[in-house]
Amino acid sequence: MTDHERTAQELAVSLRGITKEFNDGEVKALRGIDLEVPRGQKLVLMGLSGSGKSTTLRVLNRLHDPTSGEMTVLGEDPMAMSARELRRFRQRVAFVFQHFNLVGRLTALENVMAGALGTLRGPRYGVMTYPNAMRHEALAQLERVGLGDQAFQKAGTLSGGQQQRVGIARALFQKPELVLADEPVASLDPESSRQIMELLLTVCEEDGLTVICSLHQVELAIEWADRMVGLRHGEIVFDRDASQITIADASTIYASTDPTTSSDPEAA
Ligand SMILES: Nc1ncnc2c1ncn2[C@@H]1O[C@H](COP(=O)(O)OP(=O)(O)OP(=O)(O)O)[C@@H](O)[C@H]1O
Ligand SMILES: [Mg+2]
Repeated sequence: MTDHERTAQELAVSLRGITKEFNDGEVKALRGIDLEVPRGQKLVLMGLSGSGKSTTLRVLNRLHDPTSGEMTVLGEDPMAMSARELRRFRQRVAFVFQHFNLVGRLTALENVMAGALGTLRGPRYGVMTYPNAMRHEALAQLERVGLGDQAFQKAGTLSGGQQQRVGIARALFQKPELVLADEPVASLDPESSRQIMELLLTVCEEDGLTVICSLHQVELAIEWADRMVGLRHGEIVFDRDASQITIADASTIYASTDPTTSSDPEAA
Protein backbone atom coordinates (compact mmCIF):
# COMPACT_ATOMS: atom_id res chain seq x y z
CA MET A 1 0.00 0.00 0.00
CA THR A 2 1.37 3.44 -0.87
CA ASP A 3 1.27 6.29 1.66
CA HIS A 4 -1.46 7.90 -0.38
CA GLU A 5 -3.61 4.75 -0.34
CA ARG A 6 -3.07 4.26 3.39
CA THR A 7 -4.20 7.81 4.10
CA ALA A 8 -7.26 7.34 1.93
CA GLN A 9 -8.21 4.31 4.07
CA GLU A 10 -7.85 6.23 7.33
CA LEU A 11 -9.84 9.19 6.11
CA ALA A 12 -13.60 9.04 5.86
CA VAL A 13 -13.64 12.05 3.56
CA SER A 14 -11.09 13.87 1.46
CA LEU A 15 -12.17 16.85 -0.64
CA ARG A 16 -9.69 18.66 -2.86
CA GLY A 17 -10.67 21.89 -4.55
CA ILE A 18 -14.35 21.02 -4.72
CA THR A 19 -16.47 23.65 -6.43
CA LYS A 20 -20.17 23.62 -7.15
CA GLU A 21 -21.94 26.05 -9.42
CA PHE A 22 -25.64 26.33 -10.11
CA ASN A 23 -27.53 28.06 -12.92
CA ASP A 24 -24.69 27.94 -15.45
CA GLY A 25 -22.19 29.44 -13.05
CA GLU A 26 -24.42 32.27 -11.89
CA VAL A 27 -24.40 30.84 -8.35
CA LYS A 28 -21.07 29.72 -6.95
CA ALA A 29 -22.20 27.63 -3.98
CA LEU A 30 -18.77 26.09 -3.24
CA ARG A 31 -15.57 27.87 -4.23
CA GLY A 32 -12.83 25.32 -3.67
CA ILE A 33 -13.37 23.23 -0.55
CA ASP A 34 -10.37 21.32 0.82
CA LEU A 35 -11.33 19.10 3.72
CA GLU A 36 -10.00 15.91 5.26
CA VAL A 37 -12.11 14.12 7.85
CA PRO A 38 -10.53 11.20 9.73
CA ARG A 39 -12.68 8.15 10.40
CA GLY A 40 -14.60 8.42 13.65
CA GLN A 41 -14.54 12.22 13.78
CA LYS A 42 -17.64 14.19 14.72
CA LEU A 43 -17.49 17.35 12.68
CA VAL A 44 -19.90 20.27 12.78
CA LEU A 45 -20.36 22.52 9.77
CA MET A 46 -21.41 26.04 10.65
CA GLY A 47 -22.14 29.11 8.59
CA LEU A 48 -24.77 31.61 7.64
CA SER A 49 -27.67 30.68 5.44
CA GLY A 50 -26.42 30.18 1.89
CA SER A 51 -22.80 29.57 2.93
CA GLY A 52 -22.79 26.11 1.35
CA LYS A 53 -23.41 23.64 4.20
CA SER A 54 -26.18 21.65 2.53
CA THR A 55 -24.37 21.71 -0.80
CA THR A 56 -21.24 20.28 0.83
CA LEU A 57 -23.23 17.48 2.47
CA ARG A 58 -25.06 16.74 -0.77
CA VAL A 59 -21.87 16.57 -2.79
CA LEU A 60 -20.52 13.97 -0.35
CA ASN A 61 -23.05 11.33 -1.32
CA ARG A 62 -23.46 12.68 -4.84
CA LEU A 63 -26.94 14.06 -4.44
CA HIS A 64 -25.12 16.90 -6.24
CA ASP A 65 -22.25 16.39 -8.67
CA PRO A 66 -19.43 18.83 -8.01
CA THR A 67 -18.51 21.19 -10.85
CA SER A 68 -14.79 20.56 -10.33
CA GLY A 69 -12.37 19.09 -7.83
CA GLU A 70 -11.62 15.63 -6.51
CA MET A 71 -13.03 13.63 -3.66
CA THR A 72 -12.56 10.36 -1.86
CA VAL A 73 -15.33 9.17 0.45
CA LEU A 74 -14.85 5.97 2.49
CA GLY A 75 -11.88 5.11 0.32
CA GLU A 76 -13.80 5.41 -2.94
CA ASP A 77 -14.34 7.98 -5.65
CA PRO A 78 -18.11 8.59 -5.88
CA MET A 79 -17.62 10.41 -9.19
CA ALA A 80 -16.32 7.25 -10.83
CA MET A 81 -19.24 5.04 -9.78
CA SER A 82 -21.85 3.34 -11.92
CA ALA A 83 -25.49 3.62 -10.85
CA ARG A 84 -25.28 0.24 -9.16
CA GLU A 85 -22.02 1.12 -7.34
CA LEU A 86 -23.58 4.39 -6.23
CA ARG A 87 -26.57 2.56 -4.72
CA ARG A 88 -24.22 0.30 -2.77
CA PHE A 89 -22.12 3.32 -1.72
CA ARG A 90 -25.20 5.18 -0.46
CA GLN A 91 -25.96 2.28 1.90
CA ARG A 92 -22.66 3.16 3.61
CA VAL A 93 -23.52 6.86 3.85
CA ALA A 94 -26.69 7.67 5.80
CA PHE A 95 -28.45 11.02 5.62
CA VAL A 96 -30.42 12.61 8.46
CA PHE A 97 -32.71 15.44 7.34
CA GLN A 98 -33.96 18.62 8.97
CA HIS A 99 -37.58 17.80 8.18
CA PHE A 100 -37.12 14.09 8.97
CA ASN A 101 -38.37 12.94 5.52
CA LEU A 102 -40.60 10.22 6.94
CA VAL A 103 -43.70 8.84 5.28
CA GLY A 104 -46.38 10.04 7.68
CA ARG A 105 -48.99 7.38 6.92
CA LEU A 106 -46.53 4.53 7.52
CA THR A 107 -45.54 3.24 10.96
CA ALA A 108 -42.24 4.18 12.59
CA LEU A 109 -41.06 0.61 11.97
CA GLU A 110 -41.82 0.74 8.24
CA ASN A 111 -40.04 4.07 7.95
CA VAL A 112 -36.94 2.54 9.52
CA MET A 113 -37.01 -0.38 7.10
CA ALA A 114 -37.62 1.87 4.10
CA GLY A 115 -33.86 2.47 4.03
CA ALA A 116 -33.44 -1.14 2.91
CA LEU A 117 -35.97 -1.07 0.07
CA GLY A 118 -33.14 -0.80 -2.44
CA THR A 119 -31.94 -4.23 -1.31
CA LEU A 120 -35.37 -5.92 -1.55
CA ARG A 121 -37.18 -6.96 -4.69
CA GLY A 122 -40.53 -5.34 -5.38
CA PRO A 123 -42.66 -3.01 -3.27
CA ARG A 124 -43.76 -3.83 0.27
CA TYR A 125 -47.25 -3.41 1.67
CA GLY A 126 -47.28 -3.55 5.46
CA VAL A 127 -44.83 -4.55 8.16
CA MET A 128 -45.40 -8.29 7.81
CA THR A 129 -44.18 -8.36 4.21
CA TYR A 130 -40.63 -7.54 5.27
CA PRO A 131 -38.25 -10.38 6.17
CA ASN A 132 -38.36 -11.36 9.82
CA ALA A 133 -34.73 -10.57 10.54
CA MET A 134 -35.24 -7.12 9.10
CA ARG A 135 -38.20 -6.40 11.37
CA HIS A 136 -36.20 -7.50 14.40
CA GLU A 137 -33.28 -5.30 13.45
CA ALA A 138 -35.54 -2.29 12.82
CA LEU A 139 -37.25 -2.79 16.17
CA ALA A 140 -33.87 -3.04 17.89
CA GLN A 141 -32.83 0.29 16.35
CA LEU A 142 -36.10 1.92 17.44
CA GLU A 143 -35.55 0.62 20.98
CA ARG A 144 -32.07 2.03 20.87
CA VAL A 145 -33.38 5.53 20.16
CA GLY A 146 -36.02 5.13 22.89
CA LEU A 147 -39.00 4.50 20.61
CA GLY A 148 -39.68 0.79 21.11
CA ASP A 149 -43.19 1.55 22.34
CA GLN A 150 -44.03 3.69 19.31
CA ALA A 151 -42.87 1.22 16.65
CA PHE A 152 -46.39 0.66 15.31
CA GLN A 153 -47.54 4.26 15.56
CA LYS A 154 -47.95 6.20 12.31
CA ALA A 155 -44.93 8.45 11.86
CA GLY A 156 -47.13 11.46 11.09
CA THR A 157 -48.62 11.32 14.58
CA LEU A 158 -45.25 11.41 16.39
CA SER A 159 -43.79 14.59 17.88
CA GLY A 160 -40.93 16.32 16.06
CA GLY A 161 -38.34 14.93 18.46
CA GLN A 162 -39.79 11.43 18.10
CA GLN A 163 -39.80 11.76 14.30
CA GLN A 164 -36.14 12.64 14.30
CA ARG A 165 -35.47 9.62 16.52
CA VAL A 166 -37.07 7.54 13.77
CA GLY A 167 -34.84 9.36 11.27
CA ILE A 168 -31.80 8.36 13.30
CA ALA A 169 -33.01 4.76 13.69
CA ARG A 170 -33.50 4.62 9.91
CA ALA A 171 -29.96 5.89 9.39
CA LEU A 172 -28.51 3.31 11.83
CA PHE A 173 -30.53 0.52 10.26
CA GLN A 174 -28.49 1.01 7.10
CA LYS A 175 -25.34 0.08 9.09
CA PRO A 176 -23.60 3.14 7.66
CA GLU A 177 -19.97 4.15 8.12
CA LEU A 178 -20.59 7.83 7.55
CA VAL A 179 -23.59 9.84 8.75
CA LEU A 180 -24.41 13.16 7.09
CA ALA A 181 -26.89 15.24 9.06
CA ASP A 182 -28.25 18.49 7.62
CA GLU A 183 -29.49 20.66 10.49
CA PRO A 184 -31.09 17.66 12.19
CA VAL A 185 -32.45 19.75 15.06
CA ALA A 186 -33.42 22.96 13.27
CA SER A 187 -37.13 22.09 13.50
CA LEU A 188 -37.01 21.23 17.22
CA ASP A 189 -37.30 23.14 20.49
CA PRO A 190 -34.07 23.69 22.51
CA GLU A 191 -34.62 20.79 24.92
CA SER A 192 -35.47 18.30 22.17
CA SER A 193 -32.52 19.61 20.16
CA ARG A 194 -30.17 18.86 23.01
CA GLN A 195 -31.62 15.38 23.50
CA ILE A 196 -31.43 14.54 19.80
CA MET A 197 -27.84 15.75 19.48
CA GLU A 198 -26.89 13.71 22.55
CA LEU A 199 -28.58 10.67 21.08
CA LEU A 200 -26.79 11.12 17.76
CA LEU A 201 -23.49 11.47 19.59
CA THR A 202 -24.04 8.37 21.72
CA VAL A 203 -25.12 6.03 18.95
CA CYS A 204 -22.43 7.22 16.55
CA GLU A 205 -19.75 6.76 19.21
CA GLU A 206 -21.08 3.31 20.05
CA ASP A 207 -20.90 2.29 16.41
CA GLY A 208 -17.65 4.16 15.67
CA LEU A 209 -19.27 6.20 12.88
CA THR A 210 -17.97 9.35 11.27
CA VAL A 211 -20.49 12.19 11.47
CA ILE A 212 -20.65 15.44 9.54
CA CYS A 213 -23.47 17.57 10.81
CA SER A 214 -24.55 21.11 9.99
CA LEU A 215 -25.76 22.94 13.05
CA HIS A 216 -26.51 26.54 13.99
CA GLN A 217 -26.39 26.28 17.79
CA VAL A 218 -22.85 27.24 18.79
CA GLU A 219 -23.15 25.94 22.36
CA LEU A 220 -24.44 22.57 21.25
CA ALA A 221 -21.72 22.36 18.63
CA ILE A 222 -18.95 22.98 21.15
CA GLU A 223 -20.37 20.37 23.51
CA TRP A 224 -20.97 17.85 20.83
CA ALA A 225 -18.31 18.04 18.15
CA ASP A 226 -14.64 17.09 17.92
CA ARG A 227 -14.12 19.74 15.30
CA MET A 228 -15.86 22.78 13.90
CA VAL A 229 -15.59 23.98 10.33
CA GLY A 230 -17.04 27.35 9.35
CA LEU A 231 -18.18 28.14 5.84
CA ARG A 232 -18.71 31.54 4.29
CA HIS A 233 -19.69 32.17 0.69
CA GLY A 234 -18.70 28.64 -0.23
CA GLU A 235 -15.26 28.73 1.38
CA ILE A 236 -13.87 27.32 4.61
CA VAL A 237 -12.97 30.26 6.83
CA PHE A 238 -12.63 28.46 10.15
CA ASP A 239 -11.38 25.00 11.10
CA ARG A 240 -10.57 24.08 14.68
CA ASP A 241 -10.77 21.41 17.35
CA ALA A 242 -13.92 22.02 19.36
CA SER A 243 -11.90 21.71 22.59
CA GLN A 244 -10.01 24.89 21.64
CA ILE A 245 -13.04 26.97 20.83
CA THR A 246 -15.02 29.40 22.93
CA ILE A 247 -18.54 30.53 22.19
CA ALA A 248 -17.16 33.95 21.23
CA ASP A 249 -14.74 32.37 18.72
CA ALA A 250 -17.43 30.30 17.14
CA SER A 251 -19.80 33.22 16.98
CA THR A 252 -17.41 35.02 14.61
CA ILE A 253 -18.65 32.60 11.94
CA TYR A 254 -22.02 34.24 12.31
CA ALA A 255 -20.76 37.81 12.61
CA SER A 256 -21.57 40.12 9.72
CA THR A 257 -17.87 40.61 9.00
CA ASP A 258 -15.44 38.10 7.57
CA PRO A 259 -13.62 36.24 10.36
CA THR A 260 -10.49 35.81 8.24
CA THR A 261 -9.91 39.53 7.82
CA SER A 262 -10.30 42.37 10.26
CA SER A 263 -12.75 44.91 8.94
CA ASP A 264 -12.51 47.09 12.00
CA PRO A 265 -11.43 50.49 10.60
CA GLU A 266 -9.82 51.37 13.95
CA ALA A 267 -7.55 48.34 13.68
CA ALA A 268 -6.12 49.39 10.30
N1 LIG B 1 -30.43 23.49 -6.51
C1 LIG B 1 -29.94 24.74 -6.47
N2 LIG B 1 -30.09 25.57 -7.51
C2 LIG B 1 -29.59 26.83 -7.50
N3 LIG B 1 -28.91 27.33 -6.45
C3 LIG B 1 -28.74 26.56 -5.38
C4 LIG B 1 -29.25 25.23 -5.33
N4 LIG B 1 -28.92 24.69 -4.13
C5 LIG B 1 -28.26 25.65 -3.46
N5 LIG B 1 -28.14 26.77 -4.20
C6 LIG B 1 -27.45 28.01 -3.80
O1 LIG B 1 -26.16 27.65 -3.33
C7 LIG B 1 -25.79 28.45 -2.22
C8 LIG B 1 -25.47 27.56 -1.02
O2 LIG B 1 -26.66 26.94 -0.59
P1 LIG B 1 -26.76 25.89 0.58
O3 LIG B 1 -28.12 25.34 0.55
O4 LIG B 1 -25.63 24.94 0.48
O5 LIG B 1 -26.55 26.81 1.88
P2 LIG B 1 -26.67 26.43 3.42
O6 LIG B 1 -25.40 26.83 4.07
O7 LIG B 1 -27.11 25.03 3.57
O8 LIG B 1 -27.82 27.42 3.93
P3 LIG B 1 -29.00 27.23 5.02
O9 LIG B 1 -28.38 27.52 6.37
O10 LIG B 1 -30.01 28.25 4.66
O11 LIG B 1 -29.51 25.83 4.90
C9 LIG B 1 -26.95 29.41 -1.99
O12 LIG B 1 -26.66 30.61 -2.64
C10 LIG B 1 -28.12 28.71 -2.63
O13 LIG B 1 -29.07 29.63 -3.09
MG1 LIG C 1 -28.82 24.13 4.29
